[in-house]
Amino acid sequence: MDTLRPVPLALAAVLACVLAGCTSEPVTAPVEQQAATTDPVAGLVAHGEYIVRIAGCNDCHTEAYATLGGEVPLAQWLTGSALGYNGPWGTTYATNLRLTIADLEEQEWLDYTATLHTRPIMPDFMLRQMREQDRRAIWHFVRSLGPAGNPAPKALPPGETPPPPYFQLVLPPIEDNAIPG
Ligand code: HEC
Repeated sequence: MDTLRPVPLALAAVLACVLAGCTSEPVTAPVEQQAATTDPVAGLVAHGEYIVRIAGCNDCHTEAYATLGGEVPLAQWLTGSALGYNGPWGTTYATNLRLTIADLEEQEWLDYTATLHTRPIMPDFMLRQMREQDRRAIWHFVRSLGPAGNPAPKALPPGETPPPPYFQLVLPPIEDNAIPG
């Protein structure tokens, strides 16, 4: 252990409080911040978990996540899904990101996601617009979970009826969908 490390701010604040005999509420930083003050990698992992939760990656890439109201153990997160998304592009399946990330080094993941183009229903534009630090955090978090599960089913070409379960998307013609103005 590095004994020369500066005392983390939160701990310093608590110590100052104790020494001064102060009786105010204990300092409670959110888990994310606590981790970040003690260990930069733990901070990235915690931030990655937060981004994955709020950016909705689990909604598609974790089997039954939405159905179970998000109550899925971390061990099963992002292992892909056999729920198909059928539309004019054929049928796509949310991939197993635990396996994807196990195969990519950090820089490869950053380059890959900065320019990612997939078929629907993946919001690839969201990942392209995500700050590098957030995409880096996702990599650290998913790497910390390790590889798990099997690959998701392979995408099917347009016109082929997928086996259930699948969502069927009946969309307006692309011209009607154009951004106004
Ligand atoms: C609305 C559903 C949905 C959401 C939300 C979603 N994905 Fe996807 N994702 C998919 C589908 C479906 C594919 C497969 C697309 C294809 O086959 O072309 C995919 C593909 C990908 C791929 C490329 C395939 C691979 O494994 O390399 C990456 C990377 C990816 N998603 C990461 C993410 C991350 C990170 C998030 C959260 C920030 C996320 N996705 C959110 C549905 C989704």
